[in-house]
Amino acid sequence: MHVAFELNGARVEADVESRTTLADCLRHHLLKTGTHVGCEHGVCGACTVIVDGAAVRSCLMLAVQAEGGRVLTVEGLSDDKALSPLQAAFRKHHALQCGFCTPGMLATAHALLTEEPDASKDRIREVLSGNLCRCTGYIPIVEAVFEARAAYRK
Ligand code: FES
Ligand code: FES
Repeated sequence: MHVAFELNGARVEADVESRTTLADCLRHHLLKTGTHVGCEHGVCGACTVIVDGAAVRSCLMLAVQAEGGRVLTVEGLSDDKALSPLQAAFRKHHALQCGFCTPGMLATAHALLTEEPDASKDRIREVLSGNLCRCTGYIPIVEAVFEARAAYRK
């Protein structure tokens, strides 16, 4: 099946099977490998991307469901020249170690702060609770997202 949507601001097209997930379409057809695939059944959050403003698990969404939509992946969070304020806060607070969860964490946090730039630490913890990290203990991730809030108020 043919699918076309906006990916990180540019129109893309792909020929996929009807059963192809958005995650596999992004990684294997469009070569955007920043989106990671862990559990492949909606538990870990590593595959989280933003579709039409909402954080979604791309392993649970079919590629054809993205037809005509706007998809934002970790590659679209910053230009090639500099880290985004959210990414810079992750670096500052050592909010990643192996980095496998990081694209999903960034996508989830970006969607949250775009909608709720005054999110409390409790709210940040609640929203990030759907993203699993085996390395950091979460505290630096919450600190990073909390610090990045200022950039979303502008
Ligand atoms: S790979 Fe999608 S939630 Fe784990
Ligand atoms: S940094 Fe390794 S899983 Fe989160």
